[in-house]
Amino acid sequence: MKPSNAKPFLKWVGGKKQLLQEFDKRMPLHIKGEKTIKRYVEPFVGGGAMFFFLKRNYHVEESFLFDINPELIISYQVVKNDCKNLIHRLMKMEEEHLNMEEDHRKENYYRIRTAYNLQMQDFDYENYSREWVERAAYMIFLNKTCFNGLFRQNKKGEFNVPFGRYKNPRICNEENLIGASSALEGTEIFCGDFTKSRDYIEEGSFVYFDPPYRPLNSTSNFTEYSKNGFDDVDQIKLADFFEKMDDRGAYLMMSNSDPKNENPKDKFFDRLYRSYKIDSVPAKRNINCDGSKRGKLNELIIMNYSLTF
Ligand SMILES: C[S@@+](CC[C@H](N)C(=O)[O-])C[C@H]1O[C@@H](n2cnc3c(N)ncnc32)[C@H](O)[C@@H]1O
Repeated sequence: MKPSNAKPFLKWVGGKKQLLQEFDKRMPLHIKGEKTIKRYVEPFVGGGAMFFFLKRNYHVEESFLFDINPELIISYQVVKNDCKNLIHRLMKMEEEHLNMEEDHRKENYYRIRTAYNLQMQDFDYENYSREWVERAAYMIFLNKTCFNGLFRQNKKGEFNVPFGRYKNPRICNEENLIGASSALEGTEIFCGDFTKSRDYIEEGSFVYFDPPYRPLNSTSNFTEYSKNGFDDVDQIKLADFFEKMDDRGAYLMMSNSDPKNENPKDKFFDRLYRSYKIDSVPAKRNINCDGSKRGKLNELIIMNYSLTF
C-alpha cells in the first residue's frame, strides 16, 4: 500500500491532533517495532485524526471505521469513492464563495445551509447515489465556513451552526482530499453504534476508541454530536464492550476526558477501567463554548496492554 500524507478533511469537535504524539508513545511494542498494523478498528472515527496519523506513519494492512453520524459517514464514502467529482463540485463552490464580499458570503452560507437541510427530507441514506456527492460537498463547505467547524443539529436533525467569519477559508484542499481518498482505499466505513465493530475485532487487532466527552460541567453539551447523546450509561456499556474485546485478545487504546479536571474526587473512569493501565496526560481542548476554559486540561489514555517486556 502507498504511504499517505493525508490529514483529516473535516474539522471535528474532540479532534485528537494534539494528542497524537502521546498516543504514538503508547502504541503496542510489537506494532512500534514492526511499523505494521495488520487490522485497525476505530469505533468512533469522527474527523479521523488517529486513522490518518497511523496511515502516515505505519503500514496499516486493513482498517474498519465506524461512527453513528450518517452525515459524516456519507462524506467518508464520497471522499473514498468519488473524490474527483467531489473536488470538482467543491472547487466551484469555493470559487463562487471567495469572489463574494463578506455580506454576500454570509447570505451564501445560509443559502447552502438551507439547501442542505431541505435535501435531508427525502434523502436516501442507505443507497449510494450521485446525490451523496452533493451532500458531502455541502457538508465540507459548511464545515469549513461555519462557526468553529462545529457540527450541531436541532431536534429535527437540521444543521443549525451559524456563519463563521474567516478571511479566506480553504474549502477545497484538493491535494489533501486526494490523499485522504487513497488513505481510505481498502478501508471499510460503517454508520452505526460502536457495538457494530464487534464483528471486525479479532485477536491481534489494534482498536482505538475515542468516545464523546463526558461533559466537564453542566453547560458544556458538546457530547451531543448527533441527535443521540453519550451519557454515563453509554460509558458503562462501552467499558463492558472494552472488557469483552480484551478477552478476545485485541490491543485496545482509549482516550477519554479526565473527570478530575472538574472534580478531583471523581473516580468514574478509575472504577470502570480498574483492571487496565490509565495514564493522565495534559491536552488542550480545541472547542469549548466557554473561551476562558480553553486552557490545559488532562485527558485519559487507557490501555489493556503493557509497554514493557
Ligand atoms: C470525540 S469524537 C471522535 C473524534 C475523533 N477521534 C477525531 O479525531 O476527530 C466522538 C465521535 O463519536 C461519535 N459517536 C457518538 N455516539 C456514538 C455511538 N454510540 N457509536 C459510535 N459513534 C458514536 C460521534 O458522532 C463523534 O464523531
